Amino acid sequence: MSDWWREIFRDRPWWMNGVMAFSAWMTFVYMPWDIFIKPTALDQEVWFGIVFTGAWAKILAFPHWFVYGAAVYGFRRRRPWMGLAATLYVGQVAIGMFIWPILHYGSLMGWLLAFIAATPFIGLTLAFWNARDHFSEGRRSLQERYGGWALVTGASAGIGEEFARALAREGIHCALLARRAEKLEALAEELETLHGVETRVIACDLAEADGPEQAAAAVADLDLGLLINNAGVGGAGRFDKLGIHRLRQMVNLNCLAPVALTHALLPGLMARGRGAIVITGSVAGRQPLPLHGVYGATKAFDLMLGESLYVELRDQGIDVLVLEPGSTVTEFQEVAGEIQHHGQSVVEVVETALGALGQQPSVISGWMNWLRANAASRIGSRPMVAYVAREVMEVQTPADMR
Ligand SMILES: NC(=O)c1ccc[n+]([C@@H]2O[C@H](COP(=O)([O-])OP(=O)(O)OC[C@H]3O[C@@H](n4cnc5c(N)ncnc54)[C@H](OP(=O)(O)O)[C@@H]3O)[C@@H](O)[C@H]2O)c1
Repeated sequence: MSDWWREIFRDRPWWMNGVMAFSAWMTFVYMPWDIFIKPTALDQEVWFGIVFTGAWAKILAFPHWFVYGAAVYGFRRRRPWMGLAATLYVGQVAIGMFIWPILHYGSLMGWLLAFIAATPFIGLTLAFWNARDHFSEGRRSLQERYGGWALVTGASAGIGEEFARALAREGIHCALLARRAEKLEALAEELETLHGVETRVIACDLAEADGPEQAAAAVADLDLGLLINNAGVGGAGRFDKLGIHRLRQMVNLNCLAPVALTHALLPGLMARGRGAIVITGSVAGRQPLPLHGVYGATKAFDLMLGESLYVELRDQGIDVLVLEPGSTVTEFQEVAGEIQHHGQSVVEVVETALGALGQQPSVISGWMNWLRANAASRIGSRPMVAYVAREVMEVQTPADMR
């Protein structure tokens, strides 16, 4: 438990931790009490030094609640917008603190109190402005943070292909792995031409028993800084209608391959003292998923594995992230035998992953996906969620496979 607290408060100046803790208290204790329990007649809200009372105070408490909630998230996750948002908000409080005593008391007394009340907040406003780079530190280039080469599995299509493009744009050399060598060759040529990085093509079937070992041997001589365990397949349909070979291959690729590949390459990352491991999971792993049961289970496995490794390896300089996309426009749906449906773009998904890497153990791409995944698992009971999930999956699964 104490390590968890340390993790929450690490990498931030003490005064910023103080403001974050205050925001958390306001979000989870004070504002709910203020809004839902405090009598309306006693309510007061101050915005820009103007005091609102009664029903207006109740209404204007909601934006306050939102601001404090956003601050907890922004401080905790070091979001780039937080530096400016904190400066503006505390600046607004400073203006309020200055105006309020003058309006209230007038004369010399009011001015004196205005200076006394506003000074700490003016100081805090300046401190946030000066510390704004703290919120972009996590965005130091991937090259600076991890350096060297990346191994991207599943790089011949979809999310993996986009990972390779994004990493190459940052000057990271890319080892590209999948079964279709010709697609990898074309991507390698593109990355070398456009971004001047080195590439290596590794045609390998990770679902085969010795696939991960072959892959590890193929990058053994490289200064590997990032391992992107992304290759994966789904299989839509009722459990008894899916062949056992296909299910086995799915478990091999989605579960065993990341375990074996990470296990083989981790000593090298640990020896360099810095590196990153990404595992592409899925929101499918957040709840039981009838008609996609084995796939969902493999992605739950990936989530648990990655979140555990995040904690194990945090102090060794290795960042671990489980990326959990929702539906994404790739070859995945066709390969899984799903009826085509809408999805996010691979660019959005990969941007989300690289933005969260080093900041948190897992990230769900897209706020609607986040809402669905969390609402389902936290509000509903597990059997209820399973029945709702089946209804969703029925729409995406061909009739003969239901
Ligand atoms: N698209 C979605 O809606 C979605 C949603 C949530 C999670 N995900 C996850 O995102 C990851 C990437 O999927 P995607 O959407 O980008 O799908 P995709 O477009 O089908 O790409 C899958 C990649 O994995 C490779 N691959 C498949 N079987 C392989 C094997 N046996 N050995 C080595 N490589 C293999 C494929 O290349 P080859 O065929 O050339 O081998 C391809 O490069 C997967 O882990 C998937 O579960 C996808």
